[in-house]
Amino acid sequence: MTTPKRYLVTAALPYANGPVHIGHLAGCYLPADIYVRYLKLKDKDVVFICGSDEHGVPITIKAKKEGVTPQQVVDKYDALMKNAFAEFGIQFSYYGRTSSATHHQTAKDFFKTLYDKGVFKEEITNQYYDEQAGQFLADRYIVGTCPRCGNPNAYGDQCEKCGTSLNPTDLINPKSTLSGATPVLKETKNWFLPMGELQQTETFKNYITRFDHWKTNIKGQCQSWLSEGLQSRAMTRDLDWGVPVPVEGADGKVLYVWFDAPIGYISATKEYYNQSNEWEKYWKQEDTQLVHFIGKDNIVFHAIIFPMMLMSHGGFKLPDQIPANEFLNLEGDKISTSRNWAVWLHEYLKDFPGREDELRYVLTAIAPETKDSEFTWKDYQTRVNSELVSILGNFVNRVMVLTEKYYLGVVPTSKKFTDEVLKSAQSTALLAVSSSITQMETYIESFRLRDAQAELMNIARAGNKYLAETEPWKLVKTNKEAVEGIMFDALQICAKLAIAAQPFLPFTSARLQAMLNINNIEFSSIYNDIVLPSGNQLKPASILFKQVEDAEIQPQLDRLAKIKKDNETNDTTASGAASLKQVKEDISYEDFDKIDLRVGKILQAERVPKADKLLKLTVDLGFEKRTILSGIAAYYQPEELIGKSVTVVANLAPRKIRGIESQGMLLMAGNDIDKLYSVGPEQEIEPGSIVK
Ligand code: MF3
Ligand code: ZN
Repeated sequence: MTTPKRYLVTAALPYANGPVHIGHLAGCYLPADIYVRYLKLKDKDVVFICGSDEHGVPITIKAKKEGVTPQQVVDKYDALMKNAFAEFGIQFSYYGRTSSATHHQTAKDFFKTLYDKGVFKEEITNQYYDEQAGQFLADRYIVGTCPRCGNPNAYGDQCEKCGTSLNPTDLINPKSTLSGATPVLKETKNWFLPMGELQQTETFKNYITRFDHWKTNIKGQCQSWLSEGLQSRAMTRDLDWGVPVPVEGADGKVLYVWFDAPIGYISATKEYYNQSNEWEKYWKQEDTQLVHFIGKDNIVFHAIIFPMMLMSHGGFKLPDQIPANEFLNLEGDKISTSRNWAVWLHEYLKDFPGREDELRYVLTAIAPETKDSEFTWKDYQTRVNSELVSILGNFVNRVMVLTEKYYLGVVPTSKKFTDEVLKSAQSTALLAVSSSITQMETYIESFRLRDAQAELMNIARAGNKYLAETEPWKLVKTNKEAVEGIMFDALQICAKLAIAAQPFLPFTSARLQAMLNINNIEFSSIYNDIVLPSGNQLKPASILFKQVEDAEIQPQLDRLAKIKKDNETNDTTASGAASLKQVKEDISYEDFDKIDLRVGKILQAERVPKADKLLKLTVDLGFEKRTILSGIAAYYQPEELIGKSVTVVANLAPRKIRGIESQGMLLMAGNDIDKLYSVGPEQEIEPGSIVK
C-alpha cells in the first residue's frame, strides 16, 4: 500500500442518552486517541472526528423516563459526554452532534441521492401500531412475554433475561409501553437497502478483499454475516424523533438511526472545516486513510452497511481499517447503563482528581483488543502501584532527586566509559530503550496498543535496570566522573519516556516535560542520542503517580456491592414476584366444576415427526384410553414417562395438532424457563380417579 497522504480517524458517535463509562473509553475513544496522538507526533495530517448520536429510540425512551423532551435529553448528555472526553484528554479535532442543521441537511441529501438513483426498495410491512397513542411502535416500545424464557418484560427486539433477539411479533401478550394498550398490526411503507443485492456487486466484492488486513475478530464477524447472506434492512422508521425522510409520502417517518449516525462523521467533518470544501479531501480522495474505531456491537454497521451506503452514493472512499474492540466487563458482570453497573467517567474524575492518566493506563493495559476483558478495582490498584508508581514513577523520581542532589538540577555531560561493566550496562540500556521505541511504533501502527504501552513501560524498566546495575549512589564516592555519565544517560531516558508517553499518558508526559524543562520536542528526536542537552536546568521534581490506597478503592467496591444488591432486589420484584401474582381473573366455583379432571396413567410415549416440542402419549383414563399430544418433548424423554400417573383434563374438546387428534390435556407445573413437572397424585391410585 502507498503511504497515505492524510488520515481521517473516527470514533463511534456515542448515544446521548447517558454519561460515558470506562467501557466506552476502553472500547473506542482511548485507542482512537492514542492512535491519533501518535500520528500527530509523527507529523501526519490527521483529522479526528466524533460527536453525539442524538437520534434513535434509546433517546426517546430516556426522555419519557425522565419526563423531559428528547431535545433536553440530548442537550444534557451531549454536554456531559463532551466534557468527560475532554477531561480525559481525548483530543477530537471536532465533536459534532447529529441534531445539528448541517447534519440533518447532509443526511437528507444523502438519502435523497440514493432514493433518486433507485437504490432503495419500497416495501409494505405490518408493524405494531398503538391506536391509543396514535403511532407506530419501535421494537423497544413493545414489551411482552419472551417465548423462550417466559420473562414477562421482554422487549420487541430482545429479551434481556435470556439474551434472545426477537421480533415484536414473537412476544406473547404484547403491550405498548406508551399507553399499555395491546398494539395492532398495521401496514406501513418503508425504504429498504437491498443488502443482499449489493453484496453481489463487483464494487462490494472488491471492497471486502481489504478485510484480509483487518483484525481477526472483525474479519470473522463480517465473514459470517456475508456467508449467511445479507438481508434487506429498512432505512426509514415510523418514529417522530430523527431526521425526517425527505421524500413524498413519508410523513411521520424518519431515517433509521443507523442510516443517519455514520453520516454524522461526514457532517462533523464539514462543520470542522466550516463548510469549506476542505472536508471533501478527507472523504473523497483515495490517498486518505479512513479509520473507524468502534466497539464490536457496531461492526456490521461500519464494515458492511455504511460502506454499502457510501458505494451506492458514489464519490466517497471506503474505510481502510476498522479496529473494533471487544467488550470490557466490570467486576464479573457486563457493564450496563440501565443497571448502573459501570464506573462513570464523571464520577471517577470526582473521586480520583488529577488521576486521569492512571485510568487511561489501566484501561489500555487491559484493553479488550482480542477478547472481552475485565476491570476490577483491585487490579486497578495493583497496576497503578506496581507499574506506574514502582516502575515509571520510581525511575523518574530517582533520576530527578539524584540530579538535584549531585548537580543542583543541572543536566551533566555525557561520558565515555572505560570500565567494562559500566560500558556494557550502558550499551544494554540504550539498546533496550531504542528497540522498545521501535517496537512501540510498530505496535501502534497495527492497533496493538496494549503491547505498545507495555513497550513504553519497558523503557522505564531499562532505565531502572541501568541504575540498579551501576549504582550511582555508591559509585559517587569513588568515581564522580562515571556517575555524571550514568546520570546523563538516565536523564536522556527520562526525556525519551516523556516523549513516548504522550499518546498514552498525555498529562504525565506534559508534567514530565515541564520537570525536565523541555518543550515541544519533536517525536523524531526520540531516536537521537541527546534529547536533553547538558546544562539544561531542571525544574523541581514532583511525584508523578501516587499509590492507590485500600481506603480509596473500598468506597468504589462498596458502591458496586450496593448496586448489585439493589439490582437483585429489583429483579426478584420485576420478574419473580410479578409472575407470582394472580394472573387470571376470578372464576366462580361453577366455572371450575365444569372441568372433568382425572388421574391418568401413561401407557405409551413417542416423538412426533417434524414437531420437536411434541410427544404423543397414550393415556389410560380407566374408562377409556386416550391419545394426548403434549408439548413437553424438551423436558422428558418418552421412556421416562411410561407408567407415570398424571392429571388429565378429560373433557377438553378434542383438537387436531399436526394431523393427530389430541383428546385431552396433561397438567404441568413450570417456570417457562427450564423446569416443567407433571402434576399427579401423591400415591398410586387407579386411573380414572376424579381430581377435585
Ligand atoms: N450510537 C452508536 C452506539 O453507541 C454508535 C454510532 S456510530 C455511528 O452504539 F457510526 F453510527 F455514528
Ligand atoms: Zn427470554
